[in-house]
Amino acid sequence: MQLLCGRSAIITGAAQGIGRAMVDSFIEQGATVLAVDIKPLDGLLDADAHPKGLHVLQLDITQPAAPERIMRAASERMGGLDILINNAGIASFMPITETSDTAWDEVLALNLSSVFRICRDAVPLLKASSSGRIINIGSVMSTFGGAGLSAYAASKHGVAGLTKCLASELGEFAITANFIQPGAILTEITRGSIQQYPQMEAFWRDKAALGRWGEPSDIAPVAVFLASDLGAFVSGTGLVADGGAMQAP
Ligand SMILES: NC(=O)c1ccc[n+]([C@@H]2O[C@H](COP(=O)([O-])OP(=O)(O)OC[C@H]3O[C@@H](n4cnc5c(N)ncnc54)[C@H](O)[C@@H]3O)[C@@H](O)[C@H]2O)c1
Repeated sequence: MQLLCGRSAIITGAAQGIGRAMVDSFIEQGATVLAVDIKPLDGLLDADAHPKGLHVLQLDITQPAAPERIMRAASERMGGLDILINNAGIASFMPITETSDTAWDEVLALNLSSVFRICRDAVPLLKASSSGRIINIGSVMSTFGGAGLSAYAASKHGVAGLTKCLASELGEFAITANFIQPGAILTEITRGSIQQYPQMEAFWRDKAALGRWGEPSDIAPVAVFLASDLGAFVSGTGLVADGGAMQAP
């Protein structure tokens, strides 16, 4: 049984990593997807696994006109919107004294402000759906902090606060809003960090109760659950998927 048959979804940051895995799972579950990324998405269209139901839009989501362009594409190409997934994000690791205004602004602009603007502009379309869903990709750093993570953790705590408020405000329109809190997942973001700080690999592997890093395919089913009828009564919460990394100090 397909869990997302007839549903239309926007997924940002869809060219690779967790976003790409969600595109694969959503198409597999019968959804129509508008995949958005600053990087070219032609590879997605070429994939044999995606014969139908996939639309792509290449743009920088931090640009002021981006939310309007995304919603227009969703209306014109998919005929509406049921599920919004704000996934695009960047990592940043720098001590506070080395965090320039520009670096701070760059992280907040993508990880938080673009999420706010895209959510805001999606609301009219989501209201027209009988089962509107907002799924924002937070992090375990939506709850915790860490040295060198001021900008990143602030942005992801912001995603948590924003999402909880959206759940309160939009419930009357049958729209749920949740955020997913991945732990350490092997993607381009983290491969880059591991190259820079090799000790990170063992640190997060040992921290996880399951004794391994996560894969993007560990996160995609969590999004499918929240997007489907199975998640209809879940709203205003963060779902942690970290292999048990944060349950013990
Ligand atoms: N990988 C992890 O360990 C981990 C852990 C917790 C949370 N997250 C979060 O998951 C999300 C996805 O991360 P990932 O690990 O798959 O990263 P990734 O770098 O593999 O993918 C991020 C995608 O976002 C796109 N993107 C970046 N800037 C953009 C912009 N301005 N406009 C449009 N698209 C843009 C990139 O091109 C890329 O395709 C992020 O929000 C990240 O913070 C990741």
